[in-house]
Amino acid sequence: MSRGNPSAPPIIETDPVRMRETILAARRQGRRVGFVPTMGALHRGHGSLVSRAAAECDDVVVSIFVNPKQFGPSEDYSRYPRTLDADRDLVGSCGARWVFVPEAQATYPPGHATNVVVGAPAADFEGAVRPGHFAGVATVVCWLFNVVPADIAYFGAKDWQQSVVVRRMVQDLAIPITIEVCPTIREPDGLALSSRNAYLSADERRRATALHEGLRAAARAWEAGEDVAAVEGMIRTALEARDIPVDYAVVVDPLSLLAPHPGSAAVALVAGRLGSTRLIDNLPLPPRG
Ligand code: PAF
Repeated sequence: MSRGNPSAPPIIETDPVRMRETILAARRQGRRVGFVPTMGALHRGHGSLVSRAAAECDDVVVSIFVNPKQFGPSEDYSRYPRTLDADRDLVGSCGARWVFVPEAQATYPPGHATNVVVGAPAADFEGAVRPGHFAGVATVVCWLFNVVPADIAYFGAKDWQQSVVVRRMVQDLAIPITIEVCPTIREPDGLALSSRNAYLSADERRRATALHEGLRAAARAWEAGEDVAAVEGMIRTALEARDIPVDYAVVVDPLSLLAPHPGSAAVALVAGRLGSTRLIDNLPLPPRG
């Protein structure tokens, strides 16, 4: 499937009421609508989400909103790259029909006082290192799902914990949308694509491959039957060998993010710091034994 007129650039919409009415009108006409929520500074990873949505839906909407609520006070909100023209071209070439760019005033009007706080799956890992981050994510994604009432929303697997948190929220709040999680897109040397890769110096960029290398070493150890602590140790060692402080390196159940069940599939999650840049990555691990 694809949008009606693939040669036309996507339409920018800033008004939430009009956006919602446009999506509802498309769905009333029987069109299946796909939604890719983003913060902009888009790369091929986002492009792959839009292409997948365009392949599976009649219309695709991409939101671009750098959400202040999901950044901590000492994080990179003000320097987060804003590249709207390039973003619009990229998502247009991948088949988006609309780009929704709400103003902060519309998303969080004066008096805004409601936050969506997800419990257990948001507590550890990113949630522990970045207090309040997932409440910011869940609050804005819940708002976006109300304003963009699409059939399917597409998220990248690179933010594994985020996808678990969003699925939990959708299930708990009975939000009528299907969540699809799509594979991580990587550079040829294995580095996961991320808008934050742009912050890395040449030296940091070279060392950053340690995240993927550590995960691959962990996958080999996992398949060789090593225990969880040893597998986690492989990831940690790979980062430390390149002077990358480790925020966490864990092997957990892919859905609950708790200790993995013996014999079942798991996921390895890692976060490390290169200078002032934090990078995260993960690798699904198959069932064994
Ligand atoms: O993954 C992101 O880009 C953001 O966390 C999201 C889901 C768009 C919410 O701001």
